[in-house]
Amino acid sequence: MADRGDPRAATSLDALRTLALGCDACALAPTRTTVVFGVGDPRARLLFVGEGPGEAEDLSGEPFVGRAGRLLTSLIEGIGLTRDDVYIANVVKCRPPGNRDPRPEEIAACSPFLETQLDLIAPRVVVTLGNFATQLLLGTREGITRLRGILKACTDHGNKVTPHMFPHIHSQVLGALGYTDAPIEWGIPGTGVHHARRSTTNRNNRPHQSHGKRETRQKKSSLIDN
Ligand code: URA
Repeated sequence: MADRGDPRAATSLDALRTLALGCDACALAPTRTTVVFGVGDPRARLLFVGEGPGEAEDLSGEPFVGRAGRLLTSLIEGIGLTRDDVYIANVVKCRPPGNRDPRPEEIAACSPFLETQLDLIAPRVVVTLGNFATQLLLGTREGITRLRGILKACTDHGNKVTPHMFPHIHSQVLGALGYTDAPIEWGIPGTGVHHARRSTTNRNNRPHQSHGKRETRQKKSSLIDN
C-alpha cells in the first residue's frame, strides 16, 4: 500500500526513506524495480546529486553503481575520501524507463525528497552532476557547461542557508571543504552578493591527486572539524 505522507514532514532519513519506498506520486512508480533513495553518511559534509537511477541502480537500489558510478567513486577516492564519507542521491528516486530524461512533473513530485535530504543532512557542499540536478538546485535554466565550477550559496530552503553547489568535482570543492588553497567564489542567487576568497588551511594539499594514508586522515579530520 502506498505511503502518501508528506516527505517534508519527515524528521529523520529513515522516516524519509520509508516514505520514498512507498511513494507512487508519479508515473515512474509502476515501472521501477526499486526506489533508489540515496546512500552514505547521514552527516556528510559533501553530497552529490545526480539525475536519476539507471538500470544498474534500479536493480541494486543504490545510486551510482554502474559505469557513471565507477567514475564517481574514483573521483571521490581522488580527493582522499570514500563513498562512505559522502552522501550520494539523485533528483528522481525511480528509474525513468529506458533512461529517458525525467519529466518536469516527475521532478516536481520527487523534489520534496531531495529537499528534505538536504535539510536533514545539511552538507557543506553539494556537487550537482548534470543539468537536471544543477538546474533544480540552483533554480536556473542555465546549462551545466556555463555553470560548471562556480560555487554558489543558496537560500532556497526557508531561512536556512543551504550548501554551496556546483556541477563537477573541481578544485573549488576542496577549497570549500577547507583543505586546499583553491580559490573559492560564491554568490547568493538574487542578491547580487559575490565573494572570492582563498582558503588558508592545508595550503600544501594539491587537489586531484592521490594521497597517502596520513594525508587522507588529515583531510578527513578537517572535513569533520570545519
Ligand atoms: N547513476 C545515478 O544513480 N544517477 C545518475 O544521474 C547517473 C547514474
